[in-house]
Amino acid sequence: MSRFPITRLRRLRQNANYRDMVRETELSVKHLIYPLFISEEITTPQEISAMPGIMQWPLKYLAKEAERIYRLGIPGILLFGIPKTKDEVGSQAYAKNGIIQKAIHVIKEKVPNLLTITDVCLCEYTSHGHCGVINSKGYVQNDESLLYLSHMALSHIEAGADMVAPSDMMDGRVGAIRKMLDDNRFTQIPIMAYSAKYASGFYGPFREAAQSAPQFGDRKSYQMDPANVREALREIEQDVNEGADIVMVKPALAYLDVIAKVRERYNVPLAAYNVSGEFSMVKAAAANGWIDEKRIIMEILTSIKRAGADIIISYFAPQVAEWLRSDQ
Ligand code: PBG
Repeated sequence: MSRFPITRLRRLRQNANYRDMVRETELSVKHLIYPLFISEEITTPQEISAMPGIMQWPLKYLAKEAERIYRLGIPGILLFGIPKTKDEVGSQAYAKNGIIQKAIHVIKEKVPNLLTITDVCLCEYTSHGHCGVINSKGYVQNDESLLYLSHMALSHIEAGADMVAPSDMMDGRVGAIRKMLDDNRFTQIPIMAYSAKYASGFYGPFREAAQSAPQFGDRKSYQMDPANVREALREIEQDVNEGADIVMVKPALAYLDVIAKVRERYNVPLAAYNVSGEFSMVKAAAANGWIDEKRIIMEILTSIKRAGADIIISYFAPQVAEWLRSDQ
């Protein structure tokens, strides 16, 4: 036996076949979900300035984009809507002819097998930009918000969506949505809960993309403190108990330890959201020639998988799908 056990590892690193054989983590297009922004306010696709290559889509162009995603082998999309009109209670979020409801019809007609997941949250639909409804003093009302959110979820499913993803972070929303879906005989519809969602600076570019910045205050009363990990486990536990089929940690990269802990502790499917700010930082550095874009993106997504995520929601999905295909 060698006196230097390290050499045994080296032996298996010396050529690509060995490396491939013993690789512990494999990134696959099958695990990716791509977020899509649909806007009622535009007639041609608009690029989001802080997110090169990511567009807000008008309804008219949506079918083509959905088909492109499907052809790349990406199994699912996560839809965000930007309505023309906003009000105090986010009426367009659960309107039958709301932008998301119309978008679901378009997608299901063109690419019925593309898993269509919808973000359930009021912030894009309320005039004040908060994720729930507020009282006259401007405080978000948790229990009252549940009613609006579960109606929103139901209307997405009635329009033909395959799964709902509540991102509002109100307490009890998974249970409220589960009950609403079950009462309307949608017992087969899964819920992917944004369970451990941190109050994060990494959402900056998204708020431009979804036009959902709060008009006053911030989200710290309902989103989590970045300093906490035990609290994340309690949030996960609560959502699992209320019936979440998939739980999520968000953002991903600065929270790999949270992903790893959740993976160790719970046997439920786990998603991680590689958010807008994580995308923009890579794009900006790459545009300056400071980093090798492809290498960095693959390394980031692999690290999220290695930490324990089953599913990765990422703006890089189409790009990665192309790379995975051409590298084979
Ligand atoms: C809320 C929501 C947000 C994101 C997804 N859903 C923003 C927020 O909570 O402020 C952020 C996603 C990203 O940054 O890519 N509807």
